[in-house]
Amino acid sequence: MKTALEIIPGLVHYPGYLDRAAQEALRDDLRAVLAVAPLFQPRMPRTGKAFSVRMSNCGPLGWVSDEKGYRYQPIHPTTGAPWPAIPAALLEAWAELAPGAPPPEACLINFYDARARMALHQDRDEAELSAPIVSLSLGDTALFRVGGLTRGGPTRSFRLASGDAMTLGGPARLAFHGVDRILAGSSTLLAEGGRINLTMRRVTRA
Ligand code: SIN
Ligand code: FE2
Repeated sequence: MKTALEIIPGLVHYPGYLDRAAQEALRDDLRAVLAVAPLFQPRMPRTGKAFSVRMSNCGPLGWVSDEKGYRYQPIHPTTGAPWPAIPAALLEAWAELAPGAPPPEACLINFYDARARMALHQDRDEAELSAPIVSLSLGDTALFRVGGLTRGGPTRSFRLASGDAMTLGGPARLAFHGVDRILAGSSTLLAEGGRINLTMRRVTRA
């Protein structure tokens, strides 16, 4: 097993979890996923304000957000087609980083351009909270922020670089987290620049 840094109890950072060849292979897998399930523009519940991040999903379920709220659903919000399967390399990472957890049902794909960010939030739309969230990052480095279980408490930040993995589990499963900013030009993995973050989730009770 590779280097594991426990940033707060339950949040483990694995710098360099994927080597360059594995990052390139995963990038190419995602190109195929996004050809079937193109990035869409999520909107905030009620206000309809656009997120700065664009999203897609793979797996039996996908996370979407629009005026009607946050939810998981089996089809893409604009094409109406089922989400494509989760690539094998991601399932292998889940098996290694979430040993014993039931299989993931959703893999959210977040694409950040140089100006995108994500406000502090909790991942709590899942019924099964015993499984961790498993995150993998590709492309430009993000300044990631994590707090505790309440909004407004102390936070700390660290960098998530291309190839890094992270798990949010146990006492950190419901920790507030977000992305302050993207360090544009910090990676050569994505020709167009930007950052892709993948988060695998178990959604339904196992
Ligand atoms: C998320 O919380 O959905 C994404 C986190 C990240 O981009 O690292
Ligand atoms: Fe999240």
